[in-house]
Amino acid sequence: MKVVVIGGTGLVGSKVVERLNAHGHEAVPASPQSGCNTVTGEGVDEALAGADVVVDVSNSPSFADDDVLSFFTTSTANLLEAEERAGVQHHVAVSIVGCDRLPDSGYLRAKVAQEMLIRESGRPYSIVRATQFFEFTKSIADGSTIDGKVHLAPVHYQPMASDDVAAAVARAAAGTPRNGVLEIGGPEPLRMDEFIPAVLKENGDERDVVVDEHARYFGTELDDDSLVPGPGAELGAVGYREWAERRATA
Ligand SMILES: NC(=O)c1ccc[n+]([C@@H]2O[C@H](COP(=O)([O-])OP(=O)(O)OC[C@H]3O[C@@H](n4cnc5c(N)ncnc54)[C@H](OP(=O)(O)O)[C@@H]3O)[C@@H](O)[C@H]2O)c1
Repeated sequence: MKVVVIGGTGLVGSKVVERLNAHGHEAVPASPQSGCNTVTGEGVDEALAGADVVVDVSNSPSFADDDVLSFFTTSTANLLEAEERAGVQHHVAVSIVGCDRLPDSGYLRAKVAQEMLIRESGRPYSIVRATQFFEFTKSIADGSTIDGKVHLAPVHYQPMASDDVAAAVARAAAGTPRNGVLEIGGPEPLRMDEFIPAVLKENGDERDVVVDEHARYFGTELDDDSLVPGPGAELGAVGYREWAERRATA
């Protein structure tokens, strides 16, 4: 099966390509680096020629509200139209657990808009909603820093390894379209206000942490369960400690 991975040079995308190829599929990364730009449309028809499945794990270069909305809507619309022309049979996209519960976040509103375009396209699809990647912990802390202090909400948190995200996405790509959403999360139920400070400390990051129930996460306040997957979710195999040890020895 030929699978074109849009964003196949990125953190998750490169692992999806590797996994699919290891399982005997022909997985091809496509992104601006290889001349395929889903925002301008440049090189998209060429990249999709002969594809059975398209996996979209691209990300916006800018997280500013307008930029990210424009990126995901333009890119997804262009891609879905090109898939129709190319006769692609399955569109797989990565989204974020809880995106539909947090409309005050510009980034999450953009993911909801991306999901809606996919659902309303009438084309066969699978959406994999993941929780936060372990690799993203410092970026979350940076985005939560005000006057040098990291402001975090005391809420449930279930982050995961990007390897487990890639495994779930590769399985979705090799399977039949769900025409629905699969939620995935990490194996351990944690708390954001404990996990992130512990990771910062472990990495020698001296920033003070302020625990505040009104602290904003990418523009939105959080409820206790905003970011955690529901009961039907598939849980990853790699916990934080194992992930950190693997990373240290890599
Ligand atoms: N971070 C998290 O905790 C988290 C949680 C859940 C879901 N997600 C979702 O996971 C997805 C992948 O994230 P990631 O961290 O793996 O991304 P990433 O490492 O930042 O990679 C982004 C990819 O998008 C490509 N790209 C950028 N602009 C493009 C364009 N105009 N046309 C085609 N491709 C373009 C890049 O290509 P070049 O290398 O050529 O620039 C790169 O391959 C995102 O959709 C994100 O919303 C993230």
